[in-house]
Amino acid sequence: MARKLLLKNDHIAGINTLDVYQQHQGYEALKKALTMKSEDIVSEVQKSGLRGRGGAGFPTGMKWSFIAKPEGVPRYLVCNADESEPGTFKDRYLMEYHPHILIEGMIISCFALGANTGYIFIRGEYMFVLRKLEIALEEARKAGLLGKNILGSGFDCDIFVSPGAGAYICGEETALLEALEGKRGNPRMKPPFPAVKGLYQCPTVVNNVETLAAVVPILEMGGEEYAKIGIGKSTGTKLMSASGNINKPGVYEVEMGLTMQEFIYSDEYLGGIKNGKQLKACIPGGSSMPILPAYLVTKTINHEDRLLTYESINDGGFASGSMLGSGGFMIFDEDQCIVRNTWNLSRFYHHESCGQCSPCREGTGWLEKILYRIENGQAQMDDIDTLFKVQKGIDGNTICPLGEAAAWPVAAALRHFRDEFVWHVENPDLAQKQNYGLAKYAEMRPKPEPQPTN
Ligand SMILES: Cc1cc2nc3c(=O)[nH]c(=O)nc-3n(C[C@H](O)[C@H](O)[C@H](O)COP(=O)(O)O)c2cc1C
Ligand code: SF4
Repeated sequence: MARKLLLKNDHIAGINTLDVYQQHQGYEALKKALTMKSEDIVSEVQKSGLRGRGGAGFPTGMKWSFIAKPEGVPRYLVCNADESEPGTFKDRYLMEYHPHILIEGMIISCFALGANTGYIFIRGEYMFVLRKLEIALEEARKAGLLGKNILGSGFDCDIFVSPGAGAYICGEETALLEALEGKRGNPRMKPPFPAVKGLYQCPTVVNNVETLAAVVPILEMGGEEYAKIGIGKSTGTKLMSASGNINKPGVYEVEMGLTMQEFIYSDEYLGGIKNGKQLKACIPGGSSMPILPAYLVTKTINHEDRLLTYESINDGGFASGSMLGSGGFMIFDEDQCIVRNTWNLSRFYHHESCGQCSPCREGTGWLEKILYRIENGQAQMDDIDTLFKVQKGIDGNTICPLGEAAAWPVAAALRHFRDEFVWHVENPDLAQKQNYGLAKYAEMRPKPEPQPTN
């Protein structure tokens, strides 16, 4: 059995309550942290090699070391629990079933950063999770784990939960800060970065739910021990939310370095492709990450095992790789239509664009419209080239990375499945009928390329 750090108590009934959490070493890491110097905690996190689990994989200890420390100015910790990327649902699981590991991780992080206030910005649709967090926070307050003079240490800290209003863009850290301040969630220009001017223009660290929870095992075992789990610069464990045509969808904690082959096909994890079908494609890190065709899922272009690490998934760059991102792992079987899927994603990104920059505001609309035409048999061959040009015009030309999130799935679908786009244009009647029964017309579409045997 693989090692678990965040979900190690998953099988224990009532682990969401303070009593049961404390019966299983809960808040012991906090007690240890309160005896340490704050800079030593930052140093442990640096040694652990922990990288942000929200998508970008930025080293957490390094981010913490950037926080500005002007005299007399408060600092804030903000937990990003917006989790609106299609295919990603691991933070919800952690907060719903293990709220205290997040709260403990946040108190330790606040202490390390010299922050007395933490906020959890949670997506509005997670109202039932918000209530569970509120209950857990109240339990912690009553037990003296939050509030004034925590456990007699002299350290004051409280944490508050704030719901979003249903906008994906509020997961982008600066849009999130705007929303927390009660404004429309428009991303800010960077620099200044939040570590210098964040919430209410004060130094702020924004971290993902999973990142902050991982601070607890790091403190328990020490940064160096944590760094021994995983491979190279991908240390520790990662929560993966798996969905699509697999036998066992759900949230899994994996040690970094697990092979894709084992993750997809072993019974311990996803249990293989549903109904004995063939694998067609995989999006490994949430809907904004490039899709991989079957032959690049379990092997890299150089026929090496593809591993669940930041580096291995990115092997070959975007020509033949993708990104681990948020760990939203989506599997497509041979019956799925890549054009339809790409159109569906484009619809989402067009809807969620905040509209501040024209390449994103206009470009996402173009992508959606052209993809709709291709999917519905109303397109001409040069629409495929226009599609390519529009996504290229967005990539790298916007204030925030939502533009790239919209462009990359289109670029990757064109790169690996161009024949399917061409098929839709050449077979308008069949393309139209597809809407009424994907599986029925699946056999008429180009088949996935066979995987190399070695
Ligand atoms: C459009 C968009 C949506 C995002 N949504 C989330 C999200 O839901 N949760 C998250 O942790 N990070 C999200 N991010 C990344 C955050 O901007 C930020 O990098 C992250 O919260 C930093 O935390 P980490 O270093 O712990 O990963 C999003 C980024 C973009 C551009
Ligand atoms: S890239 Fe899109 S979402 Fe981001 S700021 Fe520009 S318009 Fe808004």
